[in-house]
Amino acid sequence: MVESTQSHKITIVDTQAYQDQKAGTSGLRKKVKVFRQENYLENFVQSIFLSLSEEEYKGKALVIAGDGRFYNDVATQIIIRLAAANGVGHVYVGQHGLLSTPAASAFIRKLNADNGENYCVGGVLLTASHNPGGEDEDFGIKFNSKSGGPALENFTNLIYEHTKKIQQYRISHLGNDIDLATIADHNLGKVEGFDHDFRVTVASSTDIYYDLLKTLFDFDDLKAFVSRPDFRMVFDGMHGVSGPYAQLLFQEVLGVPQDNLFRCNVLPDFGHGHPDPNLTYAADLVKTMGIFDNKEDAPDFGAACDGDADRNMVLGKNFFVTPSDSIAIITANYKSIPFLKSGISGAARSMPTSGALDRVTEKLGIPVYETPTGWKFFGNLLDNNMISLCGEESFGTGSFHVREKDGVWAVLCWLSILADKNRGTEQLVSVADIVRAHWNEYGRNYYQRYDYENLENADADKVFKQLESQMSVFETESEGNTAVNFSYTDPVDQSVSLNQGYIFKYADGSRFVFRLSGTGSSGATIRIYLEKYSNDPSLVVEEALKSIAERALSASQIQQLTGRERPTVIT
Ligand code: G6P
Ligand code: ZN
Repeated sequence: MVESTQSHKITIVDTQAYQDQKAGTSGLRKKVKVFRQENYLENFVQSIFLSLSEEEYKGKALVIAGDGRFYNDVATQIIIRLAAANGVGHVYVGQHGLLSTPAASAFIRKLNADNGENYCVGGVLLTASHNPGGEDEDFGIKFNSKSGGPALENFTNLIYEHTKKIQQYRISHLGNDIDLATIADHNLGKVEGFDHDFRVTVASSTDIYYDLLKTLFDFDDLKAFVSRPDFRMVFDGMHGVSGPYAQLLFQEVLGVPQDNLFRCNVLPDFGHGHPDPNLTYAADLVKTMGIFDNKEDAPDFGAACDGDADRNMVLGKNFFVTPSDSIAIITANYKSIPFLKSGISGAARSMPTSGALDRVTEKLGIPVYETPTGWKFFGNLLDNNMISLCGEESFGTGSFHVREKDGVWAVLCWLSILADKNRGTEQLVSVADIVRAHWNEYGRNYYQRYDYENLENADADKVFKQLESQMSVFETESEGNTAVNFSYTDPVDQSVSLNQGYIFKYADGSRFVFRLSGTGSSGATIRIYLEKYSNDPSLVVEEALKSIAERALSASQIQQLTGRERPTVIT
C-alpha cells in the first residue's frame, strides 16, 4: 500500500461549455485534437458526475478502462483527479491504463458482486473501439453503468444536456501522477470536503476477466484440443488491447506458440492500422488464412479482435465465417460450450443482422428478439434472463457473462465447439465443416454489407427521403413485400426507439436494409445490408445477392444522389 497523509485541496475551475459533446451509438468519439482542447475532457467527465446523483458515487468505486490508444494515459490521470474531487472513494484502473471493454464490464460487475450492488457506480471507458488511434486520429469516452453495460440513451442525453451548459468542474491535484505501470493500491488520504480516504488501485488488466472465463469454459479441454498436431491456430491482436488477454489465454494457458500471435503488443496508434477485424482491415490475417486465395498450408483457425477487444472475426482455413452465421452457429451448438450446456433461455440479434439465428431459435423452440443496432439494447434482455446469447452483423457476439460484446470470449466459444466436434476424430473437423453442416441443416442466409463512408450529410438525407418515397412502390411490386421504418419497443421497460433503419423485405424473408451509421466521427455513413435466404448453400455470394443489390441501388438512387459509383467498403 502506498500511503499519503496529506489532505488534497480541490479547485473549482470555471469553464466554457462545448456544444458538440453528444455521444453516438457508443460514446463520444472525436479526433484527439478535439479532446485536447482546453477543458474538453474535463467538461465531459464532470457532466457524467452531474448526471448521477451524489450518493451514487460519493465514497464509492469507479473503474477507468482504456484500450491503449493515444491520450489514454493522459486522460486516465485527469479522470482520477476529477473523480477524487467529486468524492469518488476508490478508483480502479488497469495496469498501464489497459482494460478491454468486456474486461471493464466484468470488473464493474465483480466489484458489485463482491461488495454490494451499489458499491461501484460504473466505469469510464476510454476507447474509440475500432477507429484508428494516434495523435491525429480518434479518441473516445463512454460511461458504463453499475450493471457493466453501456449507459442507456436517456442517461447519455442527460450528459449531453449538462455538457451544453456546464460552467465549472472540480479537480484535485493529488500531487504526482499515479504510477500506472505498477500493480499497487494507493491510499492518497483525504480530499478536501470528504471524510473518506481516496484510493486508487492499479489492478491486473487480465485477472478478473480470466477468473470469470474460467467459470465459463473448460480450459483443460481446450488445451488438449489446441495441442492436437493437426490443428494450428493464429490470432491477430491488431495492436489493440486484446493483446495482453490473448497472450495470457491463448499462449500461456492454452499453449499456442508465441509466433502464432500477431500484433499482440498494444500500440497507441495501433501500428498505423485500422483496428477493425474484418476482411478489409485485417488484411494480413485474411491473407494468412487464405480467404481470397486458397492456401494449402493456411492455419486451421484464425481470429482477430478490434481496438478495445469487444469485436471478433472468426476464420477457418480458407474460410470466412460471417458474424451473422457466427451467432447462429454458436447458438445452435450451445451444448458444446460448458457454461451454456444446461440450456439457453433465448437469443437476440440486431435488426440488420441476418435471420440465420431465427432459424436456429425456431428449431430450439426458444424466443428470438430483433433489436436496434447497438449493444445496449441487449442489456434489459440479458438482465432479465430473457436471452443467453446475442450477436450483431458488426462483428459483435456475447452473452450474459458481461454486458458488452466480447471478442476473446467469442474465440473461446468457437474453440469449444471445435473441441467438442473433434472428440475422438481422426481427421480434423474444420471450421468450414461446421459451417457447411449448419447450412445443410438450416439453409443459408447469404449476406453482404455495403458501406458508403463519409458522405455529405445533405446527400445522405436525400437518399433516405428517396427511400421513403419508394416504400409503397416496393410493397405493390410483388405479393408479400413489406417496407417499414424499423422501430423497437423494449419488452422490459417499454421504451420506444424510432427510425432505426428501413427494411425492404420480400415474401421469402430476403431483404435489403438501409441505415445510417451511428459511430462515424465525420460526415455520414450509409450502410446497405443485403440478405437472401436459400436452401442451396453452394451459391456464390455475389450471385445470390445480385438482384437484391440492384433493387437496393435503384430504390435508393444512392449512386446518383451521392455521386459515389461504388461503396467504400464491401464486407
Ligand atoms: C458499435 C456498437 C455496436 C454496433 C455498432 C454499429 O460497435 O458497440 O453494438 O453494432 O457500433 O455501428 P454503426 O456504425 O453501424 O452504427
Ligand atoms: Zn470495439
